[in-house]
Amino acid sequence: MTKKLYIKTYGCQMNVYDTERMVDVMAPEGYQVTDKPDDADLVVLNTCHIREKAAEKVYSDIGRIRQMKEKHNREGRDMVLAVGGCVAQAEGGEIMKRAPAVDMVFGPQTYHRLPDMVNRAITAKAAGRKPRILDTDLSVDEKFDSLSRKQVERKSSAFLTVQEGCDKFCTYCVVPYTRGAEFSRSVEDVMNDARRLAEAGVVEVTLLGQNVNAYHGLTVSGEEWSLARLIRELAKDPGFRRIRYTTSHPADMSEDLIRVHAEVEECMPYLHLPVQAGSDRILKAMNRHHTAESYRRIIEELRRARPDIALSGDFIVGFPGETDAEFGETMHLVRDIGYAQAYSFKYSARPGTPAAVMDDQVPEDVKAARLAELQAELSRQQVAFNENTVGRVMPVLLERRGKETGQLVGRSPYMQAVHVTLPNKEDVAALFGQIVDVKILAAGPHSLKGEVVGPAQAGQPAA
Ligand code: SAH
Ligand code: SF4
Ligand code: F3S
Repeated sequence: MTKKLYIKTYGCQMNVYDTERMVDVMAPEGYQVTDKPDDADLVVLNTCHIREKAAEKVYSDIGRIRQMKEKHNREGRDMVLAVGGCVAQAEGGEIMKRAPAVDMVFGPQTYHRLPDMVNRAITAKAAGRKPRILDTDLSVDEKFDSLSRKQVERKSSAFLTVQEGCDKFCTYCVVPYTRGAEFSRSVEDVMNDARRLAEAGVVEVTLLGQNVNAYHGLTVSGEEWSLARLIRELAKDPGFRRIRYTTSHPADMSEDLIRVHAEVEECMPYLHLPVQAGSDRILKAMNRHHTAESYRRIIEELRRARPDIALSGDFIVGFPGETDAEFGETMHLVRDIGYAQAYSFKYSARPGTPAAVMDDQVPEDVKAARLAELQAELSRQQVAFNENTVGRVMPVLLERRGKETGQLVGRSPYMQAVHVTLPNKEDVAALFGQIVDVKILAAGPHSLKGEVVGPAQAGQPAA
């Protein structure tokens, strides 16, 4: 009998990828995905612990699902409620105490054991016992070996996790604690997954890792491959048309990787390279292992290698002790660099991290004012970047259907969403999943509109 699985994904792309793998491992157990939690036999919340707001959201969602669960019970049905991901890793025991409706708590390195955990929960329930399953083991080595892509992907663009965890220990960040130590998958595993994706029709791959440019996977003969090497090979075999990677750390931006941007046509001219702040004193207190100057130099070299490269970043305002002048240095850096897109956050004190107990926590209203100022500048830059593409012809990977009939939505090389409308149905079917040349006609803050002017010759921007 088929059963229904509902998974809600919070947080970063690593979680998006992990959710897909959970769907893969549950499929042979008879679980089919539903988008309605109320229909589900198994509800999984794949959670994020990065900021307080993200973590608190989980508890309100648990409350909502608990009501559905109680309704199910009154109707004589049952539901397994499971909390996975980074909140599970960080506060597993507390979730169990605070939310008795939760049957299972499991951390990011345990997903290969999900079917077993679910079966144990169901067995316990059948025997009239309350399941209390908690698995927050952090040893990473087994996770990916046992997860394979059982489902055939029907997408033109896919994520591929090549590296997990983080040893950088930025003083504000929970990731080293929730994801564990840095770990690179073997070259063979990555290549096997890559070939499987390519065979299923994937033309764009995004290599994922918390610090993906620290990748250092081993081949069967014990040779170590950097991310640069991996990208060069993936461009040849299996020959992806577009290759992206995220998230990178400035301290791991090697010369060779910068050269890849100049030499590998398939490597997209877009890079997410978080800097967090523009003040060296703050960067040091954050334990970032780079300065504002070293970041500027990297960007210069990237632009020399690939003049049309567009940048994205992450920023934190109101780190403990940040003065107005130091925040001003962040604004200065942002104006100098010029971003196509960016994420910015108010510093959020996270339990167990060094920064949470630092003196001089910045008042909430000061953080809010700084964030508003920074976001105004970043969105001005984003609008300007988008408007700059009007009139240009760019290759766009048409990857999903739009809301209107005949509409397809794709991504430019710079990750902009591009909407095109096609006059007849046959074109919609024929161009779905393809890279085509699109002339950009109009730009909004978050998306572009264009018309198809012909198939692209390569996965590269035209003039
Ligand atoms: N590994 C990546 C991303 C980590 S989390 C990297 O090192 O860049 C994504 C972003 O969340 C970070 O880049 C940072 O800007 C933000 N972030 C992390 N911890 C935070 C905290 N405690 N408060 C506010 N923002 C935070
Ligand atoms: Fe967090 Fe820093 Fe590691 Fe990024 S590099 S995941 S911000 S500790
Ligand atoms: Fe959040 Fe965990 Fe990703 S804390 S940002 S889901 S690694």
